[in-house]
Amino acid sequence: MATITHDIDHAAARLKAGELVALPTETVYGLAADARNPAAVAKVFALKGRPASNPLIVHVTGREQVDAWAVSVPEAAERLMAAFWPGPLTLVLPAHADVLPAVTAGQASVALRAPAHPQAQALLSAFGGALVAPSANRYMSISPTCAAHVAQQFAGDELLIVEGGPCAVGLESTIVSLLDAQPRLLRAGTLEPVAIEQVLGQPLLRGGAGEVRVPGQHHKHYAPGTPAFAVTELPVCAKQDARCGWLLVKPRSDLAGPVQCLGDEPIAYARGLYAALYALDNAGLERIYVELPPRGEAWTAIHDRLSRATQPA
Ligand code: TXA
Ligand code: MG
Repeated sequence: MATITHDIDHAAARLKAGELVALPTETVYGLAADARNPAAVAKVFALKGRPASNPLIVHVTGREQVDAWAVSVPEAAERLMAAFWPGPLTLVLPAHADVLPAVTAGQASVALRAPAHPQAQALLSAFGGALVAPSANRYMSISPTCAAHVAQQFAGDELLIVEGGPCAVGLESTIVSLLDAQPRLLRAGTLEPVAIEQVLGQPLLRGGAGEVRVPGQHHKHYAPGTPAFAVTELPVCAKQDARCGWLLVKPRSDLAGPVQCLGDEPIAYARGLYAALYALDNAGLERIYVELPPRGEAWTAIHDRLSRATQPA
């Protein structure tokens, strides 16, 4: 059974003993393990049901730990770390030869992030090393943004979950690769590309990860179990059907089934998105209809996750 705790020292002791601990971050909850312990890292892949070809993000307290993982740190990385760490930004850098191949999926690069959540920082400090932490969900299901949803994902497993409240950001971190002369956006997050470009003083390449594998970009990632459909107009025939649930931008009162309304403000929408999907997915529905939110740079990561969670109606 999964257990929720506030005891950081106990959680750190479990990590040192090679066990897994779910930790809160400002983006989503992560399934953490000692990044230097091959047996502990193997447990992460086994518990998630994650393919070995999908590399893990190494979580550190900050810049001071980076040289232990990256063999070189370009000036662009220094600037991004100074501007956005701790925070929802992951950097892909050339890996040290001693980084476990299970962590990098055998690639020559390593993904690094310093989370801002106080409990994540406290746990990293108490542990005294770095932690791999993929999102704390089973492979291909919805990332958890509160301890209860982690507990739901791993209900039948012995897993300690550090309570950290609801995640403030709510979507997985922005991932930027600094392996080549031009920085490249590998995964959209809530940190907007223009903010990154301003700090870099150069454009961010987008799309096409080249030689780098980002298998979390699988088109069916982040999907609820209930069939979910993206719509611009709500289908009339479903409105009076109580077996249909709705994820809406604007509230309305003409629907028979359960409604989750996230509003038209992208920060609040991102913060609430996964909890709303869990609520609808847990409601025993036949279908979920997702009303597509506005377009625009601030909505890019939201549309990315929605396109993976839904199919066209
Ligand atoms: O916000 C987040 O990043 C959360 C929290 C827990 O920190 N973690 C997270 O981890 O989203 P995960 O494993 O669900 O997604 C990590 C993504 C995957 O798509 C993986 O392929 C990519 O990072 N990744 C990891 N190492 C990489 C590397 N060396 N090069 C390119 N992509 C990498
Ligand atoms: Mg994930």
